[in-house]
Amino acid sequence: MLYLGADHGGYALKEAVKTYLDEKNIKYVDCGTYSPESVDYALIAQNACKKIAESPDNMGILCCGTGIGISIAANKVHGIRAACCSDYFSAKYTRLHNNANVLCMGGRVVGVGLALELVDVFLNTGFEGGRHQRRIDQITDIEKSQK
Ligand code: RB5
Repeated sequence: MLYLGADHGGYALKEAVKTYLDEKNIKYVDCGTYSPESVDYALIAQNACKKIAESPDNMGILCCGTGIGISIAANKVHGIRAACCSDYFSAKYTRLHNNANVLCMGGRVVGVGLALELVDVFLNTGFEGGRHQRRIDQITDIEKSQK
């Protein structure tokens, strides 16, 4: 399943992503926020990422004003590899090389047109594996060493 989340700074972008996903018949769960009122991005990230981390098949798209705060919070949840992207190359290669499972974007950084390109390439690019799996395993080992 694909999980979406945003604070007030990313709310409008999340809504645009939802419209795009609806047009493509891609199913998702909207973890909030559900209005432009001010909310705290860490709590949104925590709620969405706990669900995303339940299965390796899950993915997420999280938005805040910059995309940075919500990505920092997302990466605190074990099993989450969140990438804050504002260019096509990064959105593609974070799937190919990092097996990122969460795309973060800044609603005050990227326009809707670019954001939808990032969503499209992120959702449609697979992990390359090989030498990159070893590096992902090393990241997982860091998580395990912190428990
Ligand atoms: C909220 O004003 C803003 O700080 C937040 O959306 C985000 O940009 C934080 O990184």
